[in-house]
Parts: sequence; C-alpha cells; structure tokens
Amino acid sequence: MPSERLLPEHVAIIMDGNGRWAKSRRYPRFYGHVRGVARVKQIVTASRQIGIKALTLYAFSTENWKRPEQELNVLWALLKKYLRREIASMKKNGIRLRVIGELARLPGDARQELGRAIEELSCGKDMELTFALSYGARAEITHAVRAIAEACASGAMKSDQIQESTVEKYLSTSYLGEWSNVDLLIRTSGEKRLSNYLLWQCSYAEFDFPETLWPDYSVEEFKKSLENFKNRNRRFGGV
Ligand code: FPP
Repeated sequence: MPSERLLPEHVAIIMDGNGRWAKSRRYPRFYGHVRGVARVKQIVTASRQIGIKALTLYAFSTENWKRPEQELNVLWALLKKYLRREIASMKKNGIRLRVIGELARLPGDARQELGRAIEELSCGKDMELTFALSYGARAEITHAVRAIAEACASGAMKSDQIQESTVEKYLSTSYLGEWSNVDLLIRTSGEKRLSNYLLWQCSYAEFDFPETLWPDYSVEEFKKSLENFKNRNRRFGGV
C-alpha cells in the first residue's frame, strides 16, 4: 500500500470492458455488468479502507443512452439492487453518496432508490462516493457557463469577477471542495480515452490505463494503480 503522503485523495474510474469480458466467455453482455457490480463493491470497500477521500465512478455516460433498452433496464436494476444491498455497510463505513449527471433522464424508480440512499448516507464523513450517471463533462461545463451568464445578466456577478474558483463552484462536483480535482484517473480495458469524463476536474490528473477488463480488475490491481501514482513526479507545470 502506498504511504499516506503519496495517496491520491480523489480517484476517478472509468469502469470499461464489461461487454468484452462477457463476449470473450460467450455470456450475454448483461452478465458482464453483473460481474462489474461485484467489482464496484470491492473497489469501494478497498478505497475506504485505504483512505481515499473521494471516489468517482463513471457508471453511465450520456452516450450510453444509445444502448439497447434491454441492457439499460439491466443496468438500472443492478444499480437499485446494489443500493439496497450495500447501504447498511456503506453507512457503517462512513461513506457519503452523491450522484452527478442528468438525473432527470433516469427511470423514476432508480431515481427514487438513489434519493433514498443519498439521504440515508448523508451523514457519511469518511469518503465521498460519487456515481456519474447519465453524465457528460461538456454538458456539465455548458450548464455552469449558462448559470454564470445568468448571474452576470441579473447583476449578481460581474464578468471580471469570474475566476477559476468561480467556475468550480458551478460544476456538479463543487461539494467536493478541496478534493474536487482528480489526482488519479483509472480507465480499465486498455482504452486510452477520457470519453467526456470530468474534463475540468482531470486537468492535472495522473492517468493509469490497466489492460484488465473491469470485471477482472481486482483490489490487488487497484493497489498497483495506486503504486503507479506514487511513482509519478507531479509538477503541476512547475520544474
Ligand atoms: C462499460 O463497459 C461499462 C458500463 C457502460 C457500465 C458500468 C456499470 C457498472 C459496472 C455497473 C453499474 C452499477 C453500479 C452499482 C454503479 P462496456 O459495456 O462499455 O464494455 P465494452 O466496452 O467491453 O463493451
């Protein structure tokens, strides 16, 4: 395990490769998501134990709406089941849950279950767990720009007062405060793209791209990703 000092505070993960995992075993695609959820549980638990402050998981992008309805229904069913099963243990472990993305597009029962879990876990003080659902970073930034423009138009803000910190306050991750910048971005399955994920927040992130497909991404491999981070020399543009 990396030393406390070199631990990333905010880890963001693109959980990729569920479909390929299933296909390579001749299982239906949905079974890859079933196994993917088991990994979510393990990585959330490990992150809390290791001392990560914020874990943000890309569970569903705005582009994922293009998937067949049957697959979407499986994903929402798995999300609801996960929330119902894990809420007690997350509460015990001091985990706070938040969701970012266009939630209004989610089916009502999934939204209801999320609302209940968010409320139940609202006292969590030890780790911020965020699910990005129906999330896209360009939409998030566009929304922030619109809100800032409205504040200027109404006279509540002057354009020359707009700082980077102002923009941060209007992003959906503003509740993370000092942890809103991602320290380590992990994308499994060997793909090396950001895919519209946390574009602002990843400005100075270190990237790790393990070849492993998400359903096979073990806690041991997660610890390897954290080790890789420890060996990076982060200069933030300095020397
Ligand atoms: C990417 O794999 C994965 C997703 C689009 C969904 C990720 C969701 C989960 C792991 C479960 C969500 C549940 C909770 C509790 C957050 P892919 O299907 O794009 O894989 P492929 O690129 O191999 O086809």
